Amino acid sequence: MSWSLLVLFILTFTFLFRSFFCRTKSLPSPPGALPYLGHIRQVSNPAVFRSNLLRWGTLFSTSHIFQLKIGPRRIVILNSEEAIAELYNRRGATYSSRPLDAVTSAFFSEKSTAFTPYGKMHRYARALIGETFGPAPSTSALVSSYIEREALSLVRTIKDTSHLPGFDLGEALGRASISTIWAMIFAGERIPEEKVPSICTALRGFSKVAGIGSRIVSLFPFLSYFGIQDRDIEAAKKARERLIALIAPRYLLALDRVRKERSIEKGELQAAELDKVEPESHARRVAEAQLAGKIDQERAIWLIVGLLSASIDTTGSTLHFTLSFIADSPQVQQKAYKLLSSVCGSAPPSFKSTGLEYIKAVVKESTRMWPVSPTGMPRMTDKDDVYQGYFIPKGTTVLMNIRYIQLLEERYDEAKDFKPERWLREGESLNLMDGVKPCTSFPLFSL
Ligand code: HEM
Repeated sequence: MSWSLLVLFILTFTFLFRSFFCRTKSLPSPPGALPYLGHIRQVSNPAVFRSNLLRWGTLFSTSHIFQLKIGPRRIVILNSEEAIAELYNRRGATYSSRPLDAVTSAFFSEKSTAFTPYGKMHRYARALIGETFGPAPSTSALVSSYIEREALSLVRTIKDTSHLPGFDLGEALGRASISTIWAMIFAGERIPEEKVPSICTALRGFSKVAGIGSRIVSLFPFLSYFGIQDRDIEAAKKARERLIALIAPRYLLALDRVRKERSIEKGELQAAELDKVEPESHARRVAEAQLAGKIDQERAIWLIVGLLSASIDTTGSTLHFTLSFIADSPQVQQKAYKLLSSVCGSAPPSFKSTGLEYIKAVVKESTRMWPVSPTGMPRMTDKDDVYQGYFIPKGTTVLMNIRYIQLLEERYDEAKDFKPERWLREGESLNLMDGVKPCTSFPLFSL
């Protein structure tokens, strides 16, 4: 047999083998996609998207995953606990980067921990955050005292001002979240009062324009070459600049102090040059990492700004939804009130309070019924993958259908009802992920 015949034989055999044994199916996709724009109409309004997640969850209940098309982007949605366990947890190394679309990259950077590709630097940044926000440090006497102080201040604000016209509960909860994280980052320091409204406005400015169905230039970036500017991208850039200008100076002060301390130790500077020793804190640890050359200044600043950005809409909204569920369930309200009064009197609970499992169950139940983020933060595949015969190319955006999965009758009895008691039973679990990139503060919130 000549060489050319042999090569032809091998190629034909490979082709036939791949077509018969490696055949992949195309991913199912909801009806109603528009030409070129895809499902944009079904995702761009958050309330419509939430209700579509439930409809699509049921429609694709047997296929574990499905696909949305948004302009040129393909978005895979994990529709079952099994798919999440397999792809996010077992194959976590492939599914732990995040896409930076035009709007997101105008606000965040690859140097923010959430958007750092999976790898050594990502692990380092997470470990640094864990030193303050992990369960053990968060319950240390010092850090828990900051959290308790901010909780007390929130209770006072609600007691003293909730009857006044113009009182906004959402705003009070957002303020409390940001003040708590600020205190945890800067060794108990109170956030300068005048900064709070501007930080909240900047963060909300970004939240408003972020989302998978954002506007036309973010979907088709080439349009910007024709001078068509996307207002959302401009808004995201402004929000980032504003936020960094508000937060970074305090970090740079910590950096300056730690640098001066070092110079004093080396005898290069007089002790009088230092206004104050920077106390042990997240900010100090970040500054030490920067001075040791382990991270650069941009990453250092995101290790501060990123945590404040991650806290306001998440913790504030979780508290807001929890209070709304309690207000709608008189029995739960009565039981929670009785329990809190007997354990804590009129003060808010502290980390030392015991016997408050029912209160934790109320918060858990509200996050089950109304997850702050109904799809989780987007992830992105780092290489091609095949799941259940479906081909998922490298660079695909991946979301979870948390909204649907957490309301499944097979998973929770009477899943549509608000029943905190279910969390007092053994073996109930809310946690869908234990892979490599979940929220850094989940261990803290599951305390
Ligand atoms: C109730 C409050 C919170 C909720 C519901 C929440 C939810 C989430 C979710 C869904 C993700 C994405 C997880 C994934 O892709 O698998 C995430 C990531 C993250 N969260 Fe939270 N979060 C909360 C509070 C916080 C707070 C207070 C902080 C900061 C102190 C924080 C810091 C982060 C960070 C840094 C990431 C990125 C982790 C990474 O990519 O490695 N979160 N959070």
